[in-house]
Amino acid sequence: MPTTLAALAEEASSCTACGLSEGRTNVVFGTGSPDAEVMFVGEGPGAREDEQGVPFVGRSGQLLDRLLAEEMGVDRSACYIANVVKCRPPDNRDPRPDEIEACRPYLEQQVALVDPSVIVTLGNFASKLLLDTDTGITKLRGQAYAYGEPPRHLVPTFHPAAALRGGADVLARMRSDLVRAKMLVGRAGGEG
Ligand code: URA
Repeated sequence: MPTTLAALAEEASSCTACGLSEGRTNVVFGTGSPDAEVMFVGEGPGAREDEQGVPFVGRSGQLLDRLLAEEMGVDRSACYIANVVKCRPPDNRDPRPDEIEACRPYLEQQVALVDPSVIVTLGNFASKLLLDTDTGITKLRGQAYAYGEPPRHLVPTFHPAAALRGGADVLARMRSDLVRAKMLVGRAGGEG
């Protein structure tokens, strides 16, 4: 198992573990600080991310950047940002269970190597995967959960695309989730 993010990214750059590899321009591995205290996990790359090889650079990413600054007082370079699947699903369709499973070891190793105290899952796919549940994000959000061993705080929130579609109410709940995440940084892991 690679012992650095750079080595893991190098391995992922030639991954053919699922069919998404056939349509990609770039593997969108992850970006940000390898020592981040907060890690964000989205769903999967869209067109802009596939072109640039960087997560959350489109409209959702611009909203995420704004919320990071306004609610957490940080820039994306201080965080680590990754996705459940690292290659773009065609026509922006949802990632399939077999694709999520194939990519899961990368996400798990990213968590282990970055070693954040707080993980913020953005939307249903990341939240359901890491919390191992079928419960939807609307019910899950609003509290923190323990994730992994050693336990980290996991704060589920809406995907920024949902906030762009859903208006003021979704955005307000997302903001409060990010404030919760900020308060948990550096605190001993677990629920909260
Ligand atoms: N949506 C995601 O879930 N991830 C990205 O990187 C961009 C948009």
